[in-house]
Amino acid sequence: LASGLVANYCTELHDDQAHKVDTFLHHFQLSDETLMDVSLRFRREMDKGLCRDTNPTAAVKMLPTFVRSTPDGTEQGEFLALDLGGANFRVLLVKVMADGERKVEMENQIYAIPEHLMRASGSEFFDHIADCLANFMEKMGIKDKKLPLGFTFSFPCQQTKLDESILLSWTKGFRSSGVEGKDVVSLLRKSIKKRGDFDIDIVAVINDTVGTMMTCGYDDHLCEIGLIVGTGTNACYMEQMRNLEVLDGDEGRMCVNTEWGAFGDDGALEDLRNDIDREIDAGSLNPGKQLFEKMISGMYMGELVRLILVKMAKEQLLFQGKTTSELLTTGRFNTKKNKPEGVVCAENVLRSLGLDPSVEDCIATQRVCQIVSTRAAHLCAATLAAVLRQIRDNKAAEKLRTTIAADGSVYKNHTEFSRRLHKMVGRLVPDCDVRFLQSQCGSGKGAAMVTAVAYRLAAQHAE
Ligand code: GLC
Repeated sequence: LASGLVANYCTELHDDQAHKVDTFLHHFQLSDETLMDVSLRFRREMDKGLCRDTNPTAAVKMLPTFVRSTPDGTEQGEFLALDLGGANFRVLLVKVMADGERKVEMENQIYAIPEHLMRASGSEFFDHIADCLANFMEKMGIKDKKLPLGFTFSFPCQQTKLDESILLSWTKGFRSSGVEGKDVVSLLRKSIKKRGDFDIDIVAVINDTVGTMMTCGYDDHLCEIGLIVGTGTNACYMEQMRNLEVLDGDEGRMCVNTEWGAFGDDGALEDLRNDIDREIDAGSLNPGKQLFEKMISGMYMGELVRLILVKMAKEQLLFQGKTTSELLTTGRFNTKKNKPEGVVCAENVLRSLGLDPSVEDCIATQRVCQIVSTRAAHLCAATLAAVLRQIRDNKAAEKLRTTIAADGSVYKNHTEFSRRLHKMVGRLVPDCDVRFLQSQCGSGKGAAMVTAVAYRLAAQHAE
């Protein structure tokens, strides 16, 4: 009887706290109807970005990537890859074997990019990249070889060919000066030339979404979408050339980098953004930009939770109305360090912020995390559903069978996030048979895959 009473008490306690938070955060909870509406809105934004006349003013840029085919398994060779733009900067050496086994061997090394370099001048920034590359080649004993290199540069870039990529604007935590509006391949080549101790052949620049799609595409030929939910969020997919009006030519397909993080930058999401979303944006490095990304990705999720906790404390709903200087410090609620959503975990995090939480506080905090990450997963599902419908309509298929390659710290480490995302995609596009494939080290390996495909195609042309 006693344990029954305790259990009852716990459930009641839990329900009370959940109810309190749910009421406070009602504007964070989006109904299926609203999500369907967001999905339709995003589909219109995609159209706007694809059409020649509307593209210049479109918030969602729908950038051509000049990647026209996914790997067919006959690629081979030794390639270098750089992966820049997520939590880490990585240099890779990738060996692709064409012995029918689809074998890929990989060596890689992570290098730090110190905070100050992320804000330094472009030439200092690219000199550092060249230093790391030199260090890696030295270590691998390949400094005297001129290897082909694929560069994963995960920011919005205007491309006119595979090996030219003009940075439109920095996103996430980067803002090195004098790079926006410039071709990052030239900047990297310049820094390498200045050293003069090694040479490489930069063949391709790609977005991390494209790398992710290409890596999975090597194993699964149905793969035609790449999704990232990590520091930032974005997706790419294979579009029909005839729909890609900004380029000439109607034949075949090309991968389009949607840059969906910028969805809403023209006001399209104002009815869904709330005061906390506005506060995050106002305190960010790029106010008014990447508004959709700021509702979703790992760089902002912890901060959303922190701001909610502060607000609830100030309204006497948590911590007996008390705050601490740590809780009031930007960036202190870090999703990297927290395994979200457990009550014990909530307690540890709150204690590390100098708070002395009650059981109720811990339960409420857990609920806040749940609501914030559920909204993120559901918003992602809405845009993904729009991409799926676009592909289905392109193929005039009744039922689409397709694979989505997915990567990023939030997608990979937050199991509830991916589960909710998958479930909501199923609800929003019930007529699509979707397989999610987690890519391993996809963004870097993918740069090597794109380079390998480019080499194979060049060889075929030469024949
Ligand atoms: C940001 C970048 C985008 C990238 C995404 C995920 O949204 O603008 O290019 O794909 O982050 O890393």
